[in-house]
Amino acid sequence: MLGAELCRVLSQEHETFGMLHQSQPGHTWASFIHGDITSRESLEQVIEKTSPEWVIHTAAWTDVDGCESNTEKAYVVNAQGTENVAQVCRQNNIGLVYISTDYVFDGERDTPYTEKDTPNPINSYGKTKLIGEQAVQSDLDRYFIVRTAWLFSEFSENFVSWVAQSLQRGDPIQVAVDQTGSPTYCKDLAQALAKLVKATEYGVYHIVNSGTTTRYGFAREIARQLEVDAEQLIPIRFEQLGRVAQRPQYIVLAPGRFEKICGYMPRVWQDALAEYLSA
Ligand SMILES: NC(=O)c1ccc[n+]([C@@H]2O[C@H](COP(=O)([O-])OP(=O)(O)OC[C@H]3O[C@@H](n4cnc5c(N)ncnc54)[C@H](OP(=O)(O)O)[C@@H]3O)[C@@H](O)[C@H]2O)c1
Repeated sequence: MLGAELCRVLSQEHETFGMLHQSQPGHTWASFIHGDITSRESLEQVIEKTSPEWVIHTAAWTDVDGCESNTEKAYVVNAQGTENVAQVCRQNNIGLVYISTDYVFDGERDTPYTEKDTPNPINSYGKTKLIGEQAVQSDLDRYFIVRTAWLFSEFSENFVSWVAQSLQRGDPIQVAVDQTGSPTYCKDLAQALAKLVKATEYGVYHIVNSGTTTRYGFAREIARQLEVDAEQLIPIRFEQLGRVAQRPQYIVLAPGRFEKICGYMPRVWQDALAEYLSA
């Protein structure tokens, strides 16, 4: 999802290569090459063929419940895979942007998390993404670790498309009232990353759209903007959904460092949602 959007945005200004795993290119604005982050050899071949100045590493096993059920695969892809990427970048003197997640935090507090707060992940997905962060920090000097959250984009099915389609079909859906976060439009994140890579203040950043909501509040706003009845939205506590992995309850990422270095805050999530829905 994010990788496709980055190819679209970055190819306007840079020669851009998208690395595909099992899928085929669904668009033509960048050159594509197949590769696998769990194989050093595969990554070395990709680097040899493309000679990048920067790598933006968006690859991950993002199925949070899947990661909980198969912790070994989560470790191999998210942790070891990222270590491979970091090592190949170090060997070839390439800058690395690693996309990480709000799920490195436990969500136990009720104030926004800054880049200086200590991570404490509560599920396998978050734990393996954090190991990825640590590999990047220990292997490289020229890196950005960018934590983001609740992504949506026209390049993949996502929470917004699921809610919108369910509402339009008239299907009732259950949505958690006790998960708070920061919805983020991949287009806005990609544009923010395009700015960030021009900075030299390396390190950890939080980038999300402005504003916060609950999953239920997010779903209600989707209904409002689509002008459909929100009665089908059933508010429920997260634990009643019976999901395999625990989710942090309150994770609001404070993008203060990004604002300081790049000079702006991403727009409010409701405006980003409106653009997405009209697209
Ligand atoms: N989605 C969110 O709400 C969210 C929130 C916070 C952070 N993030 C982070 O943002 C990044 C992008 O997320 P996304 O939602 O765009 O994820 P996504 O749509 O699930 O894309 C992940 C990509 O990683 C690829 N991949 C998986 N295993 C691979 C491997 N061994 N080698 C190479 N590529 C591999 C997948 O390819 P195949 O499908 O072909 O295997 C897929 O194209 C991830 O790092 C994620 O952790 C996402």
